[in-house]
Amino acid sequence: MLRITARLLALVVGIGLVSPCLHAQQKPASAGHQWWQNAVFYEIYPRSFADSNGDGIGDLNGIASKLDYLQALGVDAIWIAPCFPSPQVDFGYDVSDYENIDKMYGTLADFDRLEKLGKEHGIKIILDFVVNHTSDQHPWFINSASSSTARKRDWYIWRAGKAANQPPNNWISAFGGSAWQWDAKTNQYYYHFFYPQQPDLNWRNPAVKDAMFGVASWWYKRGVAGFRLDAVDTLFEDPALRDNATLPGKNKQGDPNMKNENNTKLPEVHQVLQGLRQVSDKYDAVLIGETWTADVNELKQYYGEHGNELQMPMDLMFTELKFSAPVFRQHIAGIDASGRWPVYVIGNHDIVRSWNRYGDGKHNDEIAKDMAALYLTLRGTPIMYYGEEIGMQNNDPVRKEDVKDPIGRTGWPTEIGRDGERTPMQWNDTANAGFTTGIPWLPIPVTYKTYNVADELKDPNSILNWYKGLLALRHQDQALLEGEYIALNQDDPNVLSYLRRYKDEAALVVINMSASPQKVNFDLSKQGFGSGVVKTLLTTQPSLKNASSVKQLSLEPFAVYIGEVTK
Ligand code: GLC
Ligand code: CA
Repeated sequence: MLRITARLLALVVGIGLVSPCLHAQQKPASAGHQWWQNAVFYEIYPRSFADSNGDGIGDLNGIASKLDYLQALGVDAIWIAPCFPSPQVDFGYDVSDYENIDKMYGTLADFDRLEKLGKEHGIKIILDFVVNHTSDQHPWFINSASSSTARKRDWYIWRAGKAANQPPNNWISAFGGSAWQWDAKTNQYYYHFFYPQQPDLNWRNPAVKDAMFGVASWWYKRGVAGFRLDAVDTLFEDPALRDNATLPGKNKQGDPNMKNENNTKLPEVHQVLQGLRQVSDKYDAVLIGETWTADVNELKQYYGEHGNELQMPMDLMFTELKFSAPVFRQHIAGIDASGRWPVYVIGNHDIVRSWNRYGDGKHNDEIAKDMAALYLTLRGTPIMYYGEEIGMQNNDPVRKEDVKDPIGRTGWPTEIGRDGERTPMQWNDTANAGFTTGIPWLPIPVTYKTYNVADELKDPNSILNWYKGLLALRHQDQALLEGEYIALNQDDPNVLSYLRRYKDEAALVVINMSASPQKVNFDLSKQGFGSGVVKTLLTTQPSLKNASSVKQLSLEPFAVYIGEVTK
């Protein structure tokens, strides 16, 4: 299953550092997988990754300067959150020009350079396509709002109120207040699922569709390898604008809870996704979806009935699970049974960092390693979030006046906003964590003194070296890349165990998700690996480095063991 090399042997924890470029040089032949199935994706929030010009805000040249790091880490594709011209009301998710780069991030020439350098590093570029809405400063909206007979009036959703001072219906914006903004100039309301500065496009208008599909082609021709599609759920609204049912209680913005039945997840979304897929297929590109779903069935729909929609709708339910072996076992079984290619995510720029979210307050570093082992060895494609590989933690504002994210100001103190999970990447223990020579746009937590790239690279037991080991292993091991998922010891309340089996090869993954020592036994004869013989590939537990049998393994609290089993 593995090409055993000196480098690979060095992966076993305790021996230490993994050589860079390993994955880029040697990839096992694939069993018909597409490039994105064997790839590891990494989300970059461009404001916060690396600042090259000292203005306190990250930029494209900053990203370019860190490609060596990303390659050595084992990243194959970066998804850059929106870096297009924008008034930055929602930090780039309010786009005023889809075919350019915001000055604060650089220029199109910088983008082309980044892409070229990316190619040299084996790293593809994925852009963030904000499909539901534009900025209110986009020329399309400026024209649309200029008069009720404007050429682009019907590019957005304009309606008369129900009566004087009454919006067309009861829909609530996800970011607080009515989803309708009154426009005194033309005596109508326009619709915005997010901020009023983010008017929703009217996807029922074929001209909008053509323009947006044109944007996709424009970037594909420039060499991007795909898009992460923002907020796909919200593309369509009921043309009759029927009220939503209200639910008991209030949300974090103090608005009534609501069933978004008439303005999210309308079936028409799927036609757009099919259309976007036809465009992307011409370029061997991948479509990733921001797909918040209630269950596996809902998630399944985003792949398309004939696999003709998103290749990679994110399983964001994963981020909502409690850290517990039975809970994860059950969820993974459901996803696996769907027959689709899973896309696992443990964090992003909208949710509390994984270190805090899964952590128990005492063993967060160990739990971070468990979560890494889990989602990097499951069948599917992982999408990492920058900084998670060094155990970055939320740094939440404690005073309303420090909040930058608008929802944190309108919702304070119930909703404190998303600043905490968007703080600058921690490169080293010098001032500003090596992120900028200026004043960082968000404050860096004091924990950067120990949780940073430079120091963790030197520590063989760091979270960073654990990630590097896992990623290198994942790129080399045919069973981890291609193998089926087989759950083991399904009644164990503490230890999550599974096999990844590919032809005559199999990797055994064992994760003690409890704070107490555990003993586990495996009889793998039913799965065709009855010898009981194992060779350690990677473990957090030094005493297991030389384990030779899976008949019994004694695990320390939160230990991870990954071994190659034989027939
Ligand atoms: C998505 C983005 C989020 C943004 C919202 C509106 O959920 O991830 O950051 O605020 O869309 O564009
Ligand atoms: Ca900058």
